[in-house]
Amino acid sequence: MASKTPVYAFLICVLQFLHLCAAQNVKGGYWFPDSGIAASDIDSTLFTHLFCAFSDLNSNTNQVVISSANAAQFSQFTNTVQIKNPSVKTLLSIGGGASYDADFAKMASTSASRKSFIDSSLQLARSYNFHGLDLDYEYPLSANDMVNLGTLLDEWRVAAAAEAQASGKQRILLTAAVSVGPSVDGLRYPIQSISRSLDWINVMAYDFYGPPWAPSMTNAHAALYDPSGRVSASSGISSWIQAGVSANKLVLGLPFYGYSWQLANANNHGLMAPANGAPGGSGDGSKGYNQILDFIANNNAPKVYNSTIVADYCYSGTTWIGYDDKQSISTKVPYAKQKGLLGYFAWHVAADANWALSQQAKQAWGA
Ligand SMILES: *[C@@H]1O[C@H](CO)[C@@H](O)[C@H](O)[C@H]1NC(C)=O
Repeated sequence: MASKTPVYAFLICVLQFLHLCAAQNVKGGYWFPDSGIAASDIDSTLFTHLFCAFSDLNSNTNQVVISSANAAQFSQFTNTVQIKNPSVKTLLSIGGGASYDADFAKMASTSASRKSFIDSSLQLARSYNFHGLDLDYEYPLSANDMVNLGTLLDEWRVAAAAEAQASGKQRILLTAAVSVGPSVDGLRYPIQSISRSLDWINVMAYDFYGPPWAPSMTNAHAALYDPSGRVSASSGISSWIQAGVSANKLVLGLPFYGYSWQLANANNHGLMAPANGAPGGSGDGSKGYNQILDFIANNNAPKVYNSTIVADYCYSGTTWIGYDDKQSISTKVPYAKQKGLLGYFAWHVAADANWALSQQAKQAWGA
């Protein structure tokens, strides 16, 4: 018996190592139905996790629901993306950028309404064949909302564990999309509940600047670094770690889109050049990476990569676009890996151009 112990110990080490390998990283991407591609068009071999966006919160019942327009596509999402990659995991995202803060706040405020949300979400995930649920509550608006969010996350995790026990299935993964740093408008996220109850958080490290909320100057909306000390992806990640969330629960957001501004003067086309909102004065100026490449090709637009901040931009006439090209992606991903993060995710997969950025990201992370 004694002579076998080292062998068993060795095997256990190997198994633990293999388990770590399997769980070790997230190469994620969000997809939504009106994004321009069908779920069957996603090259799921480039991802470990795909987020299907969005299901909604019914403010009367506090239940998570899938709109009838999306029901058929969502119910087939997992089967569809697993054709090309049988091991890809899928998560149903709840809420999103246009979601109603007040409805989430109300749902999270009582034990009965939290239970409606939690039970319905777990049921929905099972009946639609998802491996996980992703809460996109943007954003809690008061200190009380943050406390209630923490309670919700803790109860969600307990319920997910109980459901797994009862069903004998793998526990439903629980994640959330969160702001670039651990505070929103001075309100701190419930750090301990996030740490103990979520599998990871998707850090939305983008949208720092955009024509609707920063019209007068061009800017990189998702720079990795900002030497002047303003918000950047790296400052956000560092402050999440400093706040107490371990690096291996953080997943770095990569934007597969940029923002376009109208330059005040076509000859002044650098970073932080005077601008007048979005070109043509309408919309938010956002453009998918594939549209940006078309713009560059159609206008023979010069491209500039700034390695100090890790961001790309291009310009032609009075149009200026700040975005992440391959160089930014292939610098951000090793940054995430080197920091010990769990991985990265893209918003959103349909904005990629022939999967160039997704491939770049996967390759930059390595095995
Ligand atoms: C890169 O961006 C930084 C910050 O905006 C700026 O100070 C620097 O001059 C830029 N570098 C180049 C080569 O344009």
